[in-house]
Formats: sequence, C-alpha cells, structure tokens
Amino acid sequence: MNPVKIGNINIDNPICLAPMAGFSALSFRVICGEMGAAYCPTELVSARSIRYNGLGRNSRYSMIDPVREKIPVIQLFGSEPEDFTAAVSKLLASPEYQGLKILDINMGCPVPKVVKTGSGSALMTDPLRASKIVEAAVRAVEQAGFDIPVTCKTRTGYDDRDKGGPDFVRALAESGAAMICIHGRTRPQMYAGYADYDAVAKMTEAVRPCNIPVFANGDVKDGKSALKALDRTGADGLMVGRAARGNPWVFRRITDELEGREFTEPTDLEKRQMLLRELMGRREDNPDCDEGAVVREFRAVMPFYIKGEEGAAAVKRALCSASSIDEVKEILELD
Ligand SMILES: Cc1cc2nc3c(=O)[nH]c(=O)nc-3n(C[C@H](O)[C@H](O)[C@H](O)COP(=O)(O)O)c2cc1C
Repeated sequence: MNPVKIGNINIDNPICLAPMAGFSALSFRVICGEMGAAYCPTELVSARSIRYNGLGRNSRYSMIDPVREKIPVIQLFGSEPEDFTAAVSKLLASPEYQGLKILDINMGCPVPKVVKTGSGSALMTDPLRASKIVEAAVRAVEQAGFDIPVTCKTRTGYDDRDKGGPDFVRALAESGAAMICIHGRTRPQMYAGYADYDAVAKMTEAVRPCNIPVFANGDVKDGKSALKALDRTGADGLMVGRAARGNPWVFRRITDELEGREFTEPTDLEKRQMLLRELMGRREDNPDCDEGAVVREFRAVMPFYIKGEEGAAAVKRALCSASSIDEVKEILELD
C-alpha cells in the first residue's frame, strides 16, 4: 500500500483499527499497533460529556498513551458544534492529551441511543450541522495552538434511499476534514449484509478534488478482502473492525498477504496468552477500577480469542462467568 498523509501526519502502512465500543481499550490498541495497525482510535466518547463533566468520567474510554501508541487518536461524537468547541479546548488544555495526533468525529454510529440525540449517523441527515461541527473542531484545535488533523468516520447513507453520501463527504472535506473513513453500510443495515464498495467508490470520487485521503471500511479480514476493498473503492487506506476482535494478528496477516509473504497463524496457546496480556493491560491501565469490574467488562471480549479452538464452547462459558484474573488464568491453564 502507498503511504498517505493525514494533515501533517505520515502514515506508512494505511491500515488502521476501526473504533469499537467495548473493544477499543488502550491495552488492545497498543497490541494492534505492535501488530502493524497504523493507528487505533479510542471508541466514541461524548463531546458533551467532556464539555460538562470533564475528562474524569470518560477517562477509561478516552485514555491515550503517547509513549505506547505511535499515533494516538480520540474519537468524539456529538450533535452541537459548541460541544466540540468546548470538548476540544478541554482536551488540548489537559496534560494527558498533549500527545494527541488526530481527532476523529463519529458520523456513522447507528445505535438508537446516539442517533436520537442527533449524533452519529443522524448527522448524515443534516450536512450543514455536520460541516459546522468539523469547522468548530478545526477552529478549536487551531485556537489551542495545535496542528492536529480532524477526520470523520461515516457510512454510505442514513437510510437505503439516501443518495446524499457523495455530497455529504464532499461537504465535510470542504469544511476542513483531513481524512474521511467510509463504512460501506447504511444506518439501518447496522452490520448486516455486505459492505457496498460501489457506494464507497462514489463517495471517494466525490472527495478527490479536495485532495485528502479516504479510507474504506467494512468486511476486511485478510489480504484478499483488503485488496478487494481497495480495488473496488479506490480508497487510500483501510480500517478493520470486527475481524480484529480477539485477533490483533489480522493487521500482520493483511500486511504479509498484501506484500506476498506467508502469514503464520498464531497457536491456541499464543491466543490465550494474548487474551491474558490484554486483560492484564486493562487492569494496569485502570488501577482505580475494581478487578472484578475489569474482568466482567472483558467477558464480551474473551470469547473472540478462544474462537476456533477445539472445545471452545465450554471454555467460553467458563470465561463468561469469571470475575477475577486468577480465575481467567485457571480456566486458560496459564500461569
Ligand atoms: C462492537 C462494535 C462497536 C463499534 N463502535 C464504534 C465506535 O465507537 N465508533 C465508530 O466509529 N464505529 C464503531 N463501530 C463500527 C466499526 O468501527 C466499523 O465501522 C464496522 O464494524 C464495520 O467494519 P468491519 O466490517 O471491519 O467490522 C463499532 C462496531 C462494532 C461491531
């Protein structure tokens, strides 16, 4: 793959982890970075909540680590430009975010709780508001004295009849977005069916005059599917979501296969060890959080690491009732 530039940031191998609520813990993002992901954004964090509650309440989901992450990226969601102005100013005034490299705005989330507030994919119905949000974020970054590109992640449409995708992304680019990632599904599709790469291609084409990179997203899981997504959409880079759950090796696989190297599958033992590494990382990154809470939150993630093992069902069941790291170790027969 060719290197791309997002604002002032050089991206050598433009394959990134797609943000995923519940999965994009710092610990996992660091691991994916080691496996070759160019960058790994946080999951969506409410701009309004940062504005009114500060960073404390969001810190588990919004934390970045400029030492362990090459390119720390936070994703914000919201519906009011003023919330972005205030949230970005707060973030950039805080010592923890001095190493932030990219600010991403969620314009694709289909979850009703988010959509009914006018955020996420609802912004696709209001391109003017979406543009004002981009402008507000870009201005707030500049006013804070930073040179941080603002990127957007969106879908192919608000509903299946919506043909406004190309105009929408063009408006975002003209408002100052430095990169746009397009998930090839509409809001009602959620994650069902297949990504519509033709729709992504039309949107990519619409952004071309603005000279910013476009990333395609949806259904990429290996070298072959990565090549198909790139060919069919004409995009400059890719984001990989679900295929990375419990499988950070997917980034190594894609790079190896695209570059004609043979990829070596991790063994069951390596997968179990990686599960434990992610869990221990989550524990260390949240020292104020009760261990039981960390393990319980991780219950949704653990089955993905065990998938494909012989006798996986019983192990998954046991992991899903574990409440301590020792219990997890015992189930996995790890020290
Ligand atoms: C569990 C889960 C949580 C997600 N959370 C977010 C999120 O916080 N922000 C976002 O932009 N997209 C989110 N997404 C969408 C993914 O980033 C991605 O667009 C989608 O999964 C399609 O890519 P894939 O086919 O590679 O999974 C989420 C997806 C899943 C499955």
